[in-house]
Amino acid sequence: MARTRSLMVASEAFPLAKSGGLGDAVTGLAQALSRADTEVGLLMPAYRGVRERVVGTHHIAHLAGMPGGEATLVGALCPESGLPVYLLCNDALYDRHGLYQDEHGQPYADNALRYAALAHAAVRMAGGLPGARQPDILHAQDWHAGLVPLLVRAAGLRYVKTVFTVHNLAFQGMFPLACARELGIPESYCTDDGARFYDQLSFLKAGLRYADRITTVSRNYAREILTPEFGCGLDPLLRARAADLVPIPNGIDDILWNPASDPHLGRIGYSARKPAGKTQAKRALQNALGLHVERGAALLAMGSRLTEQKMADVAVQALPAAMERHPGLQVAVIGCGDHRYEQALVELAARYPGRCAVRIGYDEGIAHRLHAGADMLLHGSRFEPFGLTPLYAMRYGAVPIGSRVGGMADTIVDPGELGGDKAMLAATGVLFDGDSPHDMGQAIDRALRLYAQPAVWRCMQRNGMACEFGWDMAARPYIDLFASLAGASPRGQVPAPTIRPEPVPAYARHPLDGGIPVPLAY
Ligand code: ADP
Ligand code: GLC
Repeated sequence: MARTRSLMVASEAFPLAKSGGLGDAVTGLAQALSRADTEVGLLMPAYRGVRERVVGTHHIAHLAGMPGGEATLVGALCPESGLPVYLLCNDALYDRHGLYQDEHGQPYADNALRYAALAHAAVRMAGGLPGARQPDILHAQDWHAGLVPLLVRAAGLRYVKTVFTVHNLAFQGMFPLACARELGIPESYCTDDGARFYDQLSFLKAGLRYADRITTVSRNYAREILTPEFGCGLDPLLRARAADLVPIPNGIDDILWNPASDPHLGRIGYSARKPAGKTQAKRALQNALGLHVERGAALLAMGSRLTEQKMADVAVQALPAAMERHPGLQVAVIGCGDHRYEQALVELAARYPGRCAVRIGYDEGIAHRLHAGADMLLHGSRFEPFGLTPLYAMRYGAVPIGSRVGGMADTIVDPGELGGDKAMLAATGVLFDGDSPHDMGQAIDRALRLYAQPAVWRCMQRNGMACEFGWDMAARPYIDLFASLAGASPRGQVPAPTIRPEPVPAYARHPLDGGIPVPLAY
């Protein structure tokens, strides 16, 4: 059988553009697909600075009649990832300070246009452009690429199959319905049975509604999003499409995130077998952040977006109390997000000089050094589709303290307190339920009790470091999925429609409306 040709359509791909785990997952998966001898390309916007980081740039096409104005498509190679990339160039749309927001943290007013243009470019490629490979599969990532399945359907490109991967259902890409015409979306797709959601246009819903298959990034999250608690109002649609919803857990890039050879650690290197360097990494981190250099201090790290998803609001209450209860506790934070929580953490650092250090900002190098130097990672989440950060922490011997939600419930092994400390010899972390400062504080206390037992703690560290979460294994279900979809749709043949008539769900709740049930018909 011919090699499957897939084109990933994404707003981020490490190292060209990254705001969080999406960028890591896109690149990690694309590299694994390429290593597995499938053909994979990546289409993304040519954000500011991206063209300077790629090589072999060649013109592919002028795209006229695009939302946001005429654009150019160029092909290139990203030397760092080794991946072929297609860049959608339109400086009026993409030559900006940030990926999604301006200097003041405000989302760009024309984000609908910016990502509609990306989807249209994907569909033009699927239709065939001289000089670009025509994909069998368009693999759309998150809401930014949510219009891809809709536009493929509208263009009648039946030989191209679409897979829509949900990395985070909470980010929905909602825009006024009145934009639809400007975005090139036919009116007939703007109904409640289509992309309309609470009288708005939802890019995310467009992806969920029209993709041939939906995937999401962990098994537990795939179950959770079928419920009103985690479904962000889209659970009725997801339940209706449950037969087409495939959980495919992410992997991690175990070369980039390898404490034995991480260039961010300078000359320090260590592994589960030779753990000595971990002590050096801790000392280096304490030094770099101005913490007291104490080997015996329990160094707890937080490295994430400082938002309510990540329980930053809970952490700013739980941490001061934990520091009072445990004089041997040190805290190190790298993060950015909600200004209130940034401020509260900066104040915490001022209150506990030498015991608490906070860096507000986004810094890939510090993130690596943080995992290497920390004894434990605090990663509370109200929902967590996968959660790459706790896996990075485990690989670096920092034991995660995470919420029992989403992917973390699948990837962190915690037999629970009832089994006693012996059971923890098989653990890789500490899981907790709830989102109160008390819940989080108790989990920190429990981790510190385990930390005080070096034999148990070393076992937990080693267990985490020994886990295999590499992308090569993780990518296999995608390869099978793509092959089955492409096989079901040989080029030029017309496949049977994949959308079955869907039951009309009774009610859905909008995530932002305080919970008044609103009738919603699909
Ligand atoms: P999410 O995608 O929800 O933010 P993940 O844990 O899956 O959560 O991925 C987060 C990624 O972003 C990780 O690679 C993490 O190291 C990185 N990250 C988050 N905040 C920062 C920061 N302030 N500086 C550097 N890297 C960060
Ligand atoms: C999202 C999720 C995170 C996941 C990442 C990569 O940003 O919040 O849980 O790990 O995407 O899939």
